[in-house]
Amino acid sequence: MKTNHRTIHREDYTEPDYYTPEIRMSFELNPESTLIRSVLSVERNKSKQHSPLVLSGECMKLIEVSIDGKKLKNGEYTVNDRELVLSIDADKAEVTTLVEINPSENTALEGLYMSGSMFCTQNEPEGFRRITYSIDRPDNMTRYTVELIADKKNYPVLLSNGNRISETELPGGKHSVIYVDPFPKPSYLFAVVAGDLDRISDSFNTRSGREIELNIYSDRGNADRCFHAMESLKKAMKWDEERFGLEYDLDTYSIVAADSFNMGAMENKGLNIFNSSYVLAAPETATDSDYLGIESVIAHEYFHNWTGNRVTCRDWFQLTLKEGLTVFRDQEFSADVQSPTVNRIMDVDSLRADQFEEDAGPNSHPVRPDNYIEINNFYTRTVYEKGAEVIRMIHTILGEERFMGGMKLYFERHDGRAVTCDDFVDAMQDASGIDLSVFRRWYGRAGTPVLCVDGSYDTEKKAYTLKLRQQNSDRRYPPDAEPLHIPIKIGLLYDNGEADLPNEGLIHLMENEQTFIFNNIKQRPALSVNRGFTAPVKVKSGHSDDELRFLFANDSDSFCRWDAGQSAALKSLRSAVEAFNRGSGAVYPDSLLQAYGSVIEDKNIDNSFKALALLLPSEQLICQEMNPVDFEAVHAARRSLKSAVAHNFRDSLLKLYQELEDDSAYSPDMESIGRRSLRLRCLEYISELNSGESIELCKNHFLNAGNMTDSIGSLRVLAGIDSPVSLECLSIFREKWQDNMLVMNKWFAVQAASSLPGTLDKVKQLEMDSAYNVKVPNIVRSLLVTFSRNQLRFNSQRGDGYRYIAEKIKEIDPINPSMSSMLAGSFKMYGRLDEARRLEMRKALEDVLAGPGLSKNAYEIVSKTLGMNK
Ligand code: TRP
Ligand code: ZN
Repeated sequence: MKTNHRTIHREDYTEPDYYTPEIRMSFELNPESTLIRSVLSVERNKSKQHSPLVLSGECMKLIEVSIDGKKLKNGEYTVNDRELVLSIDADKAEVTTLVEINPSENTALEGLYMSGSMFCTQNEPEGFRRITYSIDRPDNMTRYTVELIADKKNYPVLLSNGNRISETELPGGKHSVIYVDPFPKPSYLFAVVAGDLDRISDSFNTRSGREIELNIYSDRGNADRCFHAMESLKKAMKWDEERFGLEYDLDTYSIVAADSFNMGAMENKGLNIFNSSYVLAAPETATDSDYLGIESVIAHEYFHNWTGNRVTCRDWFQLTLKEGLTVFRDQEFSADVQSPTVNRIMDVDSLRADQFEEDAGPNSHPVRPDNYIEINNFYTRTVYEKGAEVIRMIHTILGEERFMGGMKLYFERHDGRAVTCDDFVDAMQDASGIDLSVFRRWYGRAGTPVLCVDGSYDTEKKAYTLKLRQQNSDRRYPPDAEPLHIPIKIGLLYDNGEADLPNEGLIHLMENEQTFIFNNIKQRPALSVNRGFTAPVKVKSGHSDDELRFLFANDSDSFCRWDAGQSAALKSLRSAVEAFNRGSGAVYPDSLLQAYGSVIEDKNIDNSFKALALLLPSEQLICQEMNPVDFEAVHAARRSLKSAVAHNFRDSLLKLYQELEDDSAYSPDMESIGRRSLRLRCLEYISELNSGESIELCKNHFLNAGNMTDSIGSLRVLAGIDSPVSLECLSIFREKWQDNMLVMNKWFAVQAASSLPGTLDKVKQLEMDSAYNVKVPNIVRSLLVTFSRNQLRFNSQRGDGYRYIAEKIKEIDPINPSMSSMLAGSFKMYGRLDEARRLEMRKALEDVLAGPGLSKNAYEIVSKTLGMNK
């Protein structure tokens, strides 16, 4: 087994031996052979001892290297497949290299590669070393001058960061463009794009009166699907000025949509490159959630210009410095322009499903990791979403005004620098005068804290006593590990109204166990706890069914209202799973069914909230505390509750479904989105009636759909039904959209997510579809990653789901290690399987490890899953 993959430790950080304050580059772009000449001005770090200059470089052919204009001969340097080592005599030198690379063979999609016929780059975190020999680390800041030379007919558009200072016609049908980026930046923010692209343009006037030119580039024929992205960009620019006081700094801002892209989007300075799925939108092709996702991701990348680019990370262990903070900012933006309630609920729902699971699994890590084998594996839910919750807690503790004071100090101190998470917390602490020394522990602690809550009321003293106890769920820490500073918002609810609490009910748990007493409490209250999800913890509240029902009906905090409903459903679902295990059928308490009935029939609940209240906890969530997990029982329990609700409230569901029909033109506003999502939720329940009539209704919904939300929403329901009608609709859809990659991805995904027993065979068959392409990450994600997240079918008892995905990891690893490691993440339930499944999974994973030359990406995930690195 190959184990020569080195682990990098955070504590080993040292400053670079050399810096490159300036680089001049020239690219001669050809898909099969691109020549890159780079002139690096190299400066020795004065605090370092004399040492050789080590430049990183991978997947390239070195043609020549010179120092201060003198070409080096063999033996005057050493080079291998990872680095070029030179000896430098003076404190400064000019190092020139000429290398050749092959973008068309670059299927890893890091460095310079082809997305279709377009050249583009992805350099975060360590892609720049695939373009040229360099000091490829974020604490090395460089001013770039870049010349791009290419055939003018095939590549009329040539882009890089910063300002275009010249354009020249060259002999042989070529042209050359030169860019200068005035802002020094780390190499991971460097970008190049070349292609025959469509463009839409607009402009934005900053509050200081500067006019910024805005451009969105896409493949020919897609320009008319870029307008929503442009509107989103302008909204984000305005919002950042108003809320954070931050203005854009360059004269142009460009976004390029690429079809082949490993993740969502990339914040390259002044030249963002996006996965086309986060740019292109039209009512016929994009769903409501695509529209909302585009708005959020455009904002996220734009916000990085300050939180990420102007102030960047000292080293990759600090990744959450920019990602947690920028996710917090994009969540705040989306709450403002979309819906504070709906967004918060959906963010928390996905945090619990995915981040809590990650934090309980084999690849759990703190928001600021202590070590890694491959940094690409740490662009995780934890670093991003839990990281955003950590920032949100600082915001809660300080309050808006002091938090903004902290941001101001952070930029005053660190603009133009590469810094650490501690620098950020220092700025927040120094600006506010609030001690964050206990709070800081969040950065180093893996696992989800469990908060045990015990409340009691003293009728005589009119006092409410709240005992809070925090425990760490992660095995790596002793139960009495140093306590975290956990800010918790609570409310005490009376039969009508609620108690006035100091500080809006915000309390600070700073010890492992702490008691809080509230006086002047008129009557025994119901406790509403962790309002708005102030802290990313699991609350054990011990609420009875009656209390949950009361909170669901009366809590003024809409997050807690929703959460009370979820807790009640989860309790019943978990006991239903046990009933299935004992061989008896599940019986749901009448009160629970009645609660669903009254939600369906309530005229005063807003549609989007109603849709969320009727969303049953996911299978992922239901099984979270189970070991071993009984996947069949979990699925059956959830289905039987859905079906019980459908049968009990058939008429109300049908009535509501009809009332929600609307044939006005499509608009992605929150009200219409809420209406569509509730109507589809009704359809989902109705389909559980499994009658000729209900299938007919699904089919008509599909055939009459006037937008992609309704079309794919109904097709998703149909894909879970074993009926010729479903097959017919699936093929109508394919026929219509076969040439649209983004839409075909939705078609792959609904089939891979189906709970039908033939799903694995179907997935294998879809791999043969002419629209499938193993080299395009979006397609692989739609088919294979979706299947691997299909809990019921991936975890089939026979182990064939495991073997299949293991095979695919082996096949995809040499093509694209980011994708193979994402697939490897599917095996995170290893520690929570019954013996038979565990054996199957182990065999499948050992088979992956046994292959020759597994990438460090996949190696790290698989070996940690098998517990080999302990
Ligand atoms: N920094 C990007 C963001 O969060 C994400 C990113 C990191 C990325 N590495 C990537 C995107 C590789 C694409 C490919 O906005
Ligand atoms: Zn980001």
